[in-house]
Amino acid sequence: MVAIINTNQTTNTTRLTLQTTELAAETTAIRCLDWDRDRFDIEFGLQNGTTYNSFIIQGEKLALVDTAHAKFRQLYLELLTGLIDPASLDYLIISHTEPDHSGLVKDILALAPQATVVGAKVAIKFLTDMVHQPFEHIIVKNGDRLDLGNGHELEFVSAPNLHWPDTIFTYDYKTQILYTCDAFGLHYCDEPTFDEDLELIEADFEYYYDCLMKPNARSVLAAIKRMDKLAFETIATGHGPLLKYHRAELVDRYQQWSQAQTKTETLVGLFYSEDYGYSEELARAIAQGIIKTGVAVELIDWNNTEPQEVRELVTQAAGLVIGMPPQSDREAHTILSTILAAAHSKQSIGLFEAGGGEDEPIYPLRTKFQETGLIEAFEPIIIKKSPNQATKQLCDEAGIDLGQWLTRDRTAKQIKAIDNSLEKALGRISNGLYIITATKGEIKSAMVASWVTQASLTPLGIAIAVAKDRAIESFMQIGDRFVLNVLAEGNYQNLIRHFLKRFPPGADRFEEIKTVPATNGSPILAESLAYLECEVSNRLECSDHWIVYSTVQTGRVAKLDVLTAVHHRKVGNHY
Ligand code: FEO
Repeated sequence: MVAIINTNQTTNTTRLTLQTTELAAETTAIRCLDWDRDRFDIEFGLQNGTTYNSFIIQGEKLALVDTAHAKFRQLYLELLTGLIDPASLDYLIISHTEPDHSGLVKDILALAPQATVVGAKVAIKFLTDMVHQPFEHIIVKNGDRLDLGNGHELEFVSAPNLHWPDTIFTYDYKTQILYTCDAFGLHYCDEPTFDEDLELIEADFEYYYDCLMKPNARSVLAAIKRMDKLAFETIATGHGPLLKYHRAELVDRYQQWSQAQTKTETLVGLFYSEDYGYSEELARAIAQGIIKTGVAVELIDWNNTEPQEVRELVTQAAGLVIGMPPQSDREAHTILSTILAAAHSKQSIGLFEAGGGEDEPIYPLRTKFQETGLIEAFEPIIIKKSPNQATKQLCDEAGIDLGQWLTRDRTAKQIKAIDNSLEKALGRISNGLYIITATKGEIKSAMVASWVTQASLTPLGIAIAVAKDRAIESFMQIGDRFVLNVLAEGNYQNLIRHFLKRFPPGADRFEEIKTVPATNGSPILAESLAYLECEVSNRLECSDHWIVYSTVQTGRVAKLDVLTAVHHRKVGNHY
């Protein structure tokens, strides 16, 4: 039987209400209804508000699955403490750590310091940084179980990238409810707890998929495969109505959309270990670089996969990246043999050490792949000490190199596809010539730019177009600082020639280049005509480029009587 209790709070600006529903045996949903929220993340406009759903499971042990957005702090905590005694809470299960679900974790732990937090390894790490206090925890992997007693045996499903790296689903064998947090959710705020009326919710369901899940379509398919063996009757999502009446239809739509999305993708299979050395850290940095080039990445943990799955992936993949497993890991060696047997000469390969102390030697493996005819996309990444910013930048750039290699034909085709007269007409748009230089921690980067323009007067601001697969893109996130060096007419060839060179991953772009440090720490090129010190305050995604808007703090011109170098292009298919 389903019981529904509502509590309300209306302020002048927003309506926040709570709904409590008995979902099944010893299982209660607390839905925080945010009726007027009109934006989620920077790009996600909402028409129908949203809800944040949290769940109580009472076996012999008591568990809470997720919390809520901090804006519900008072309402949620009052309601929760009326439903349970926090001192008896045994487990706080974290499906993922984005603040709309974990915004009250610190509050819950203050009320229930004895509770054990259950989550993926990445989630526990994020939470440690977030709550700044010690707490008991259990790290769970795909297939791990937790028995709450009284039939409530929970099984965890690893669902990385749906849509954060730390996502897990939780399945309760007694109630056949699968708790999926963001996955299969929708931003839709209304009284019905369930999905009775498909027509009412399907547009928002699809919009939500497009915004949050489509970029990770491959991870969606992997999660659906893992869910398959669980006989779930209800999907208890973290946003919107819970899926019961149209559960199968809606999961099927996720599958179809994701299959269509992945069909034409260029794919890299990246093998790493969640538990060994720095493997995961480096794998994620390499993956980030690959993704910048528009190539999809599937991350596979050596100890969380099967030979059949690996065979299929390696057969499809255009590229492979291998993070060395430990020599003693027999499971990983079986997977490695499968990879070697399925790899083929049209593929590209990159290898990296995991730095765990007993890595499988990298060079014999490199030789084996080379003998099979695979093309090496980047030199093996060898770890001499724990990874720092420079190591991660090197990995990011290695990933970009691999992605650019795999997309070289597509890029050439796109360039050729521009109609000749259009190409020439576009080429008549001219800009100045500039070099952006930036420092982050101990590492520096640079890029030749010509799409640069003053964008605002108060405050003084400029806009720059940066291709998504440029290494400097990671230095131009909101809050980052850099220098725009303006090049001088008649004196720019040497600098342009130098900075247009293809640098190997991690290479120092400033070797033999005269610079002085700016106030913000970035290098000013001694030969530049003028410079501006800037701070990124906004980014607009424009297809294959980011338009980066930055405020300007200070600047100086070296020679008042010299003009800015101008880039006169013949064609409009590049800047
Ligand atoms: Fe609903 Fe990714 O948080």
